[in-house]
Amino acid sequence: SVTSNTFDFAANLFPLSSSNEAGYAPIGAPTASGQRHGGLGAALEKHKTLTYMNGLGLIIGIIIGSGIFSSPSQVNMNVGSPGASLIVWAVAGVLAWTGAASYAELGGAIPLNGGSQAYLSKIIGELAGFLFTWVAVLVLKPGSAAIISIIMGEYLVRAFIGPDAETINIWVNKGMGLVGLFVVTFLNCVSTKLATRINDTLMFLKFITLITVTILGIVVAATGLSYSGEANTEWKTKSWFEGTSTDVSHWAVALYAGLWAYDGWDNTNFVVGEFRNPSRDLPRVIHSAMPAVIICYLLANMSYFLVLPLAALNSSNAVAVLFGGKILGPIGALVFALVVSASCFGSLNSSTFTSSRLLYAAAKEGYTPPIFGRIGFKAAEPGLQVTRSQNWFAKRLQRMFGDEEAGLFFTPVYALIFNGLLTAIYVIVGEFGELITFYGVAGYSFYFLTVLGLIILRVKEPSLERPYKTWISTPIIFCCVSLFLLSRAVFAQPLKTLIVIAFILIGIPVYFWRIQGRDQVAKREALGALAAPAWWQFWKK
Ligand code: ARG
Repeated sequence: SVTSNTFDFAANLFPLSSSNEAGYAPIGAPTASGQRHGGLGAALEKHKTLTYMNGLGLIIGIIIGSGIFSSPSQVNMNVGSPGASLIVWAVAGVLAWTGAASYAELGGAIPLNGGSQAYLSKIIGELAGFLFTWVAVLVLKPGSAAIISIIMGEYLVRAFIGPDAETINIWVNKGMGLVGLFVVTFLNCVSTKLATRINDTLMFLKFITLITVTILGIVVAATGLSYSGEANTEWKTKSWFEGTSTDVSHWAVALYAGLWAYDGWDNTNFVVGEFRNPSRDLPRVIHSAMPAVIICYLLANMSYFLVLPLAALNSSNAVAVLFGGKILGPIGALVFALVVSASCFGSLNSSTFTSSRLLYAAAKEGYTPPIFGRIGFKAAEPGLQVTRSQNWFAKRLQRMFGDEEAGLFFTPVYALIFNGLLTAIYVIVGEFGELITFYGVAGYSFYFLTVLGLIILRVKEPSLERPYKTWISTPIIFCCVSLFLLSRAVFAQPLKTLIVIAFILIGIPVYFWRIQGRDQVAKREALGALAAPAWWQFWKK
């Protein structure tokens, strides 16, 4: 039989799920006709459904991913001692918190979906917002997905091939990561609902895992019990600061690794417009989620140090497997390997979901070729006729996933495929530690600029209504520390930094090419912004 379907595109693409980066639709909900729509999230804002708890689930589900199970060795190796590592984890956490608090103020003052994209467009000009989208689509999103894929691969290999996989060829790890990436991309193509449901489920698992790590660590330290070999006594016999590095560059690299684990703190801002009570709940979400995550991370790291000697900890990206193996033997290693793979799977899934929506929304703005703004393999239109074979296939998937739109590919398929391919390239050419620094440099350039935007906005529009106002020291601290981090990168890796800068600059002609003839007003505004940045206009006044 031939089924006729009418779809609510906005609802299909941006289901208001709790623990997903859903709704990361910088330019607003799409319209079926695909025309440009200036209003940000116009349709989405009709559905103000998110509550405090949803926000909490969303931000925590995104932040806790691969980092806490993989970054510790990067942090330790660079700063040299357990005590110094804990300091890095605390500093990184507080830095992320100041960033998130600044974003909370911006979210209240500019209550639009889209995060940085919206704030930069509003404060500095559309060009700045475009450059963020440009870098996010081509570097940040696929880059972060690649890091998570690589870690997922490492943990999958340990789950299915064996915990002593240190000797295994890196390409086996990467291959596994690519398989995971393929599965995630495919699931996202098939069903939006399924993608969001996976995240809801995995969020609890992540919290439980971290709490379990902490409890196990304390029990082991207190009782001296241990499955394999002697219990670790290094924490009792050795100073926690022995071997601390005094090289500032090492501390900067360690901070980037720590910041990776806290990354994602800006994500509630992408869906501000969907909160029932954003001015009350956004700051509340941030001020409860950030300290909770910081405490969890500090406890988990302490626990790693209690159970494993530093040298063993540093030998692997798969810290959690060593930890589980040490305490509970092969079964423990297997369980931890599976749990962390699942955690990575969840992060990768939400990352894939968001990236495709970001690209989709950019296409609707005319920033990218229109194909990325397409729903389904053929442009799906409301009232579309579904063929018999499509229907047969879909019916099965629908039953399997409990989603009446599953298998019809009413998802931004081309955006998903593009994102998947780009991510695969990063997985193939990249290396975990390197990617983390690269991601940090590109990401923190925009965090820095956005938080600087907050300060500019305070000066430029002092009377603008701000339901939540953070202490002015908060954005200043964030700007200073991130500027320090960025400057270290410039000195330590001038070539790579130049590549990042060049890449951002290439975005400028691309912008003018894309908007050419699209919108004369926007163009003039952008030229104005290029010639006279907001702060300059202010000083001219
Ligand atoms: N903090 C996460 C992790 O440790 C990574 C978050 C990536 N960023 C994002 N916006 N999804 O794996």
